[in-house]
Amino acid sequence: MLTNTLPAISLSATVGKEPGVLVVGLAETSEGELLVGLPDELAKAFSKALGSDVTTIAKQLGASAKTGKTVLLAGAGGLKLVVVGIGPIDVTPEQVRRAAGAAVRLIATLPADAPKTVTISLETSEPKVIKGAAEGALLGAYTYLPAKAGTAGIGEIVLVSAKPKAEGKNAVELAKITAGAVVLARDWVNTPSNDLYPESFAEAAKAVARNAKLSVEVWDDKALEREGFGGLMAVGGGSSRKPRLVKVAYAPRGARFHLALVGKGITFDTGGINLKPADAMYTMKADMAGAASVLAAVSAIAQLGLKIRVTAWAAMAENMPSGTAYRPSDVLTIYGGKTVENGNSDAEGRLVMADALVKCCEEQPNLIVDVATLTGACVIALGDRVAGLMARDDQTADLVLDAAEAAGEQFWQLPIPEDARPKLESKVADLKSTGDRPGGALTAAAFLSEFVPTEIPWAHLDIAGPAFNSAAAYDYTPADATGMSVRTLVALAHVLAN
Ligand code: BES
Ligand code: MN
Ligand code: ZN
Repeated sequence: MLTNTLPAISLSATVGKEPGVLVVGLAETSEGELLVGLPDELAKAFSKALGSDVTTIAKQLGASAKTGKTVLLAGAGGLKLVVVGIGPIDVTPEQVRRAAGAAVRLIATLPADAPKTVTISLETSEPKVIKGAAEGALLGAYTYLPAKAGTAGIGEIVLVSAKPKAEGKNAVELAKITAGAVVLARDWVNTPSNDLYPESFAEAAKAVARNAKLSVEVWDDKALEREGFGGLMAVGGGSSRKPRLVKVAYAPRGARFHLALVGKGITFDTGGINLKPADAMYTMKADMAGAASVLAAVSAIAQLGLKIRVTAWAAMAENMPSGTAYRPSDVLTIYGGKTVENGNSDAEGRLVMADALVKCCEEQPNLIVDVATLTGACVIALGDRVAGLMARDDQTADLVLDAAEAAGEQFWQLPIPEDARPKLESKVADLKSTGDRPGGALTAAAFLSEFVPTEIPWAHLDIAGPAFNSAAAYDYTPADATGMSVRTLVALAHVLAN
């Protein structure tokens, strides 16, 4: 299995002797004036090398302040300059994250025979903006496979901030750990399912956890069977690759808050006996993105040394049709004893999540956040760049929404309406796994809710849309796996830590 490393990144007060490709932002004032993010003496030097004023040429070549719009300028002495739009001048960290990502992504594709250096001119010393730039640059440099022959990728990133405060360096460290976790999640999600299956995924999780000095526990299929994890056993029953439940625990001394993270880890979702059509199946190696997110997040939280107890649970299974597969109308017993009538073998995620949620509640955490590529309905509702967030109370929802906002990830709250639960009535079991088509994301949340006691605050993140980008790369988001939700989980732990 592949695992990427990040380019080197540093913060400097000046532009170095060998800056490589330079990146400058183009912002728009409230009067509509375009300002290039360069100190005067540099602007003069560049204008000289380019033979004309930087802003003027950039504009002639189509540069604009539109966030993430890039233009490449080349001048005398091998000068290469990328002008990137950052939007309105009173920048947010996310604007800068997007711009830095777009610029670095463009530079990564430029021909070169050695890994490239990128120098990004930041006209700010604001730690949050520095962090945004660092994350955007690191995430924009990502490729799953090694750089194409002749482009050599990105070797080093230098952020230039004229008067960096001490917190600036800290912000870069934070960004490194966070981006490292996002990249780890992307690598796992991009790995094809013949290489990443429950057993190998559990092994990879173990290796990462050990590296971060975290405790790990793995339930193999025998243990799952013995202890009554009927959801995982049913969903994983059709595959020769047997299911696993993975627990990774970070419990620093003195932590007052216990956060449990639960992730859906379907390493491939064919739909099972209710087989998906070919087009809908193609991207289903990404159906373990929730598990990848929670595992990557707990390792980042540990690396950051945050004073919060975090337990990550990953429910891993492969959903295959076969003679041993579970059937529509089968009745399963979820861990803890509730019985479920299976409405559709393609609604497998909620079954493995139910097992893991019940298990995680034995420790009575202060908050549970689950992350799952759970429903196509959520993609229809919110598209492929916005994830759904559902909770039983608005306080919990707001807590997670605020963390997402701080992290620069897009979530939108959906309700768990009262009429969702009655749709799950069953004649033969405590409840049925599926309702009807309308509001499918909400019924799925109502189903999960049955497995979390009401005393425990709980939020459910449906990342079915944004976990995987089937379209072209944009800003810091690559094609394919995105690592969406990792940044929100890390930001949430930051807020909750003491
Ligand atoms: N993994 C899918 C959901 C999904 C769809 C993720 C598209 C990413 C992109 C999930 O297991 C699924 O198949 N859900 C069904 C549920 C239905 C059978 C009740 C769906 O959404 O159609
Ligand atoms: Mn499915
Ligand atoms: Zn699925």
